[in-house]
Amino acid sequence: MKPARVIALASGKGGVGKSFLTLNLAEALARMGRRVVILDADFGLANIELLTGQQPEKTISDVLAGKCTVSETLITGAEGVQLIPGGRGKPEDAELCHGRMSGLIHAIDQLAGEIDYLLIDTSGGLSPTDLQLAQAAGEVMVVLTPDPVAQADAADYIRSLRNFCGIQQFGIVTNMIKRQREGHALMEALQEKLGFDQDLVLRHCGQVPFDQDIAKSSVNYQTIMQSRPDSRAARSLQLLAETLDRRRLSRAVPGGMTFFLEQTVCAGGI
Ligand SMILES: Nc1ncnc2c1ncn2[C@@H]1O[C@H](COP(=O)(O)OP(=O)(O)O)[C@@H](O)[C@H]1O
Ligand SMILES: [Mg+2]
Repeated sequence: MKPARVIALASGKGGVGKSFLTLNLAEALARMGRRVVILDADFGLANIELLTGQQPEKTISDVLAGKCTVSETLITGAEGVQLIPGGRGKPEDAELCHGRMSGLIHAIDQLAGEIDYLLIDTSGGLSPTDLQLAQAAGEVMVVLTPDPVAQADAADYIRSLRNFCGIQQFGIVTNMIKRQREGHALMEALQEKLGFDQDLVLRHCGQVPFDQDIAKSSVNYQTIMQSRPDSRAARSLQLLAETLDRRRLSRAVPGGMTFFLEQTVCAGGI
């Protein structure tokens, strides 16, 4: 059995497009025939399910409270992408203590074997929950934009994961790009900020242009893979999906997702 790939979409700063990219990337992978599940891990303020236009009956909070299984929470969106809704508006859910993180990981393990990808839409930042999720995922893709604050925060985020979680390989997606080669320039600036570190590997997986129509839309989260598949942004997202599908962002862990997730928790996480 091929183990599912678990990829956390992360950033140092909010508002860089993690939720937008997660959803559209999931659809792009699904179009390639992959079975994709999204975990909305913005616990406490989860909102990605709003996009599907469906009101979730059960959320991950119910799973953690032992009221239902992960499968019972799943919402199905476009292209068959499935979503595990996060809890909304419960401050106690915003941070997962160690026991609850372990519960979450066990719950998600139930899906192993049924999916090809689990994409984790994190809340962004350096909270213990976000760091633990990134560590548990095994593959981390950091979203970088031209915003100077986002750039500084991305460097801090990568440094923290490197120092506290031992993660040395990262995928980078540059988003909201307005000029040709701006993504490359951002990558160079990021490398420079991080200084020389021969163990740290940053791989630029793709760049997604700034899209006026997305920015102007009153709908916060829209999937452009459906509505405007020929737009530059949609085409770049499809390319990103193909790039991701070709090669892992970091080395595979023997035993696959279950083993790795269990191991992270047993080791005490962060
Ligand atoms: N490439 C892009 N072009 C234009 N607007 C974008 C792009 N990517 C994301 N956005 C918009 O930026 C806002 C923040 O995106 P979001 O996915 O919520 O960020 P995050 O999840 O990182 O906080 C949303 O309104 C989203 O539609
Ligand atoms: Mg978000």
